[in-house]
Amino acid sequence: MIKTLLTAAACLGMLASTDLVFAAGSSGAGKAQAASCAGCHGEDGNSLMDGFPKLAGQHKNYLVKQLHMFKSGERLAPMMAPLAAGLDDKAIEEIADYYAGNKISANPPLSLPADDDEDDDAPAKTEEQKKAELARLIAKGGDLYRNGDLKTAVSACIACHGPYAEGNRPAAYPSLHAQHSGYIIKTLTDFKTGARVKNKENMMYMIAVKMSDEEIKAVAYYIASLK
Ligand code: HEC
Ligand code: HEC
Repeated sequence: MIKTLLTAAACLGMLASTDLVFAAGSSGAGKAQAASCAGCHGEDGNSLMDGFPKLAGQHKNYLVKQLHMFKSGERLAPMMAPLAAGLDDKAIEEIADYYAGNKISANPPLSLPADDDEDDDAPAKTEEQKKAELARLIAKGGDLYRNGDLKTAVSACIACHGPYAEGNRPAAYPSLHAQHSGYIIKTLTDFKTGARVKNKENMMYMIAVKMSDEEIKAVAYYIASLK
């Protein structure tokens, strides 16, 4: 009898925790709250546009932190600030839970943008030349990601963002793999110019300010190429 009761209690406990998992995942309150975000970030947090960040699979504590930074104005983003201002702490928790529980989608095969040619007067690059250029950038980006740059004292990204660019959940360092290259280029440039955060103590300001535009592009294509 006692054994049966214990088993029943254990089952109830399991049910309760499965309920929690569901509530936190795809069918919970977060999904409804996130409906207004779908236009830019995609239904499940996998935005289809290069300039809008994917949120799916991102660490919950990082998402919560960013939404609070938009609200307080510590992270400067004219598009996100008014949207974040309308979210209370509970909504932020639920939305972050929802996106963190989804899986980030791999990017389709990468290609350089049509306007990549820096010198307008030079003959346009052929497809073969563009492919070779992209491969060179990805290799350079991978090297920078793993080893940093001793000459310019750019830290190795791997130290904080991990070998698979999976980030560091306890430390709230964001996951980067499979993020859109256009968003990464923009946000690293924004860190560098002070357009994302004014705080000069921000770790990524200190790193990005030492990066060349080509390094930013290279590491962005490398990260975007990771599944
Ligand atoms: C009109 C388009 C648009 C809508 C709608 C929108 N966002 Fe955003 N979101 C952006 C853009 C653009 C950025 C990048 C901001 C920047 O750094 O300049 C962003 C960034 C973010 C980030 C930071 C991601 C990162 O990797 O650092 C979070 C979190 C976020 N949005 C959550 C939301 C939530 C939650 C909603 C719905 C309440 C929402 N967004 C609605 C455009 C939008
Ligand atoms: C010392 C730890 C550390 C190192 C090293 C580091 N990062 Fe970061 N990174 C962070 C932190 C912390 C944040 C969040 C910053 C914030 O909240 O403003 C971040 C944010 C980012 C973001 C923004 C992600 C998003 O979704 O908006 C990108 C992109 C990024 N880092 C790329 C890099 C690259 C590329 C390198 C190597 C050249 C690198 N990081 C090295 C700690 C680090």
